[in-house]
Amino acid sequence: MSEREPIGVIGTGWVGLVTAACFAELGHRVVARDIVPEKVAALERGEVPIHEPNLSELIKRNRERLEFTTEIEPVLEEARLIFVCVQTPPTHSGDADLTAVMRAVEEIGSGGRRALVMKSTVPVGTGRRIRDLAKGFAYVSCPEFLREGTAVKDFLEPDRVVIGAEPGDEWAADAVAAAYEAVGAPIVRTDLSSAEMIKLASNAFLATKISFINEIANVSEEVGADVTEVARGMGMDDRIGPRFLQAGIGYGGSCFPKDVSALKILAGNSGYHFQLLNSVIEVNELQKRRVLAKLTKHLDSLSGKRVALLGLAFKVDTDDMREASSLVLASRLQGEGATVVAYDPVAEDRAKELLSDVEMSKSPLDAIDGADAAVLVTEWPEFAELDWAEVAKRMNTPLLVDGRNFLDAEAVRGAGLTYEGIGRPSASEPQT
Ligand code: UGA
Repeated sequence: MSEREPIGVIGTGWVGLVTAACFAELGHRVVARDIVPEKVAALERGEVPIHEPNLSELIKRNRERLEFTTEIEPVLEEARLIFVCVQTPPTHSGDADLTAVMRAVEEIGSGGRRALVMKSTVPVGTGRRIRDLAKGFAYVSCPEFLREGTAVKDFLEPDRVVIGAEPGDEWAADAVAAAYEAVGAPIVRTDLSSAEMIKLASNAFLATKISFINEIANVSEEVGADVTEVARGMGMDDRIGPRFLQAGIGYGGSCFPKDVSALKILAGNSGYHFQLLNSVIEVNELQKRRVLAKLTKHLDSLSGKRVALLGLAFKVDTDDMREASSLVLASRLQGEGATVVAYDPVAEDRAKELLSDVEMSKSPLDAIDGADAAVLVTEWPEFAELDWAEVAKRMNTPLLVDGRNFLDAEAVRGAGLTYEGIGRPSASEPQT
C-alpha cells in the first residue's frame, strides 16, 4: 500500500483514464469508476478502449495500484480526493450538458471530509453554484490541459497545474497541489471561476491561433507567400511562439469546437457579445471546405470522380473521430457526386460508425488505386514514407491535396504528381 493520497476518479473517458493511470504511475492507489459495465469489464481485463500512446503500458505497469469499478462506494471508501472526469457535451442551445457532472455531485455529496476535484470542462460559475448547493464536501477546480495523442506526457509533464478553490476549501486545494508535486510543474492557485476561465480561454486562444494562421494561409495563396515560411518566421518571436501555427483543414476534436462555442455562449448568456469567437468558428467551418475548391481547380467537376482520403482521425496518434474535418469533407465530396474511399491506420472502426458509403481501404496504396485525387487529412507518419512514383502510377489523375502541409512538396511533384498544400504556392504558380 503506498503512502501517497489515494485518488478517486469518476469517468474513464480520455481524461479520466489518463488521470487514473498517471496518478497510479506517480505512486497513488487509484479507484476509477465508470457507469458502463462493458467498459469497466474491459479495463479489468487490461483492455484499453482508446488509442493513446503509452496508456496501455502505464495501466499494465501500475495494475496493482488501479481498481476499476462500476460502483461509487469503493471510490468513497478509499479516497478523499475525487477527480470528476465525465463528459460535458453541448446541448442544443450550445450550453454545456451538466447531467453527468450533477450525477457525480449527488453521489459524492453523501457526507464525510471529501473533495470533488473538477477536471471536466464546465462553464465559468459552475463550481460556485455546485459549492452553494452541496454543503457536504470541498470543491476544487483543476482543469486538464492534456492533448489526445500526447496525453500521458502532457499529464506527467504539464506546463502548469491550475488549482482553483474558495476560502474554506484550502485543505482540499493543498491536497491536490501535493498530489501534483511529483510532476514538478508551476502551480497556479486561484479562485474557482478564474480556474474555470483559464481552461476555456486557453482552448479558445489556441483555436484562435489556428484560425488566424489558416486565414494567413488563405491570403498567402492569393499573394504568393508560403504560410509554412510565414509561420516559421512568426514563431521565432517569443511573444508569438511556434506552436499551433500549422495551417490546415481546420481544427476538430472533442474540445476546441465545443469549448469555443461554450465560451461564446457563456459570454452571450451573461450579456456580452464575444465577437472574435464568431469569426474563429466561421473561419474553421470554411477551412474544412476549401479543399473542394482545390480539387475542382484541377478536376472541374467532382461528379463521378473517385477521391481518396488519407487519414480520417481529427489529428495524428488518436482514433478519435469527434468533429473530425474528414466527416465534413467526406459528405461534401459525396454531395458533389464523388465516390469517397479512405484509409486510416487506427480510426477505421470509429469512422465506420460515422461515415456512410465510404469505402475503407487496408493501405494507403489501396486507397489511391484508380483515384482521381487524394487528400491528406491526418498527418500519419506512414504517409511521408509513401513511394510517390508508385502513387502517381496507380492514380487515375495524379492530384494530391496535402491538408496538413505535411509532405515534402518537391518530392511529391518530382514524382509527377500535382501537389496542392494549404497556403503554399501551387503548381501553376512560379516557384521561388
Ligand atoms: C486540446 C488542447 O490542446 C488541450 O490543451 C486540451 O486539454 C484539450 O483540447 C481539451 O480541452 O481536452 P486536443 O483536442 O486533444 O487538445 O488536440 P490539439 O492537439 O489541441 O488539436 C486540436 C485540433 O487542432 C486538431 O484537429 C489539430 O489537427 C488542430 N491543429 C492543431 C491545427 O490545425 N493546427 C495546429 O497548429 C495545431
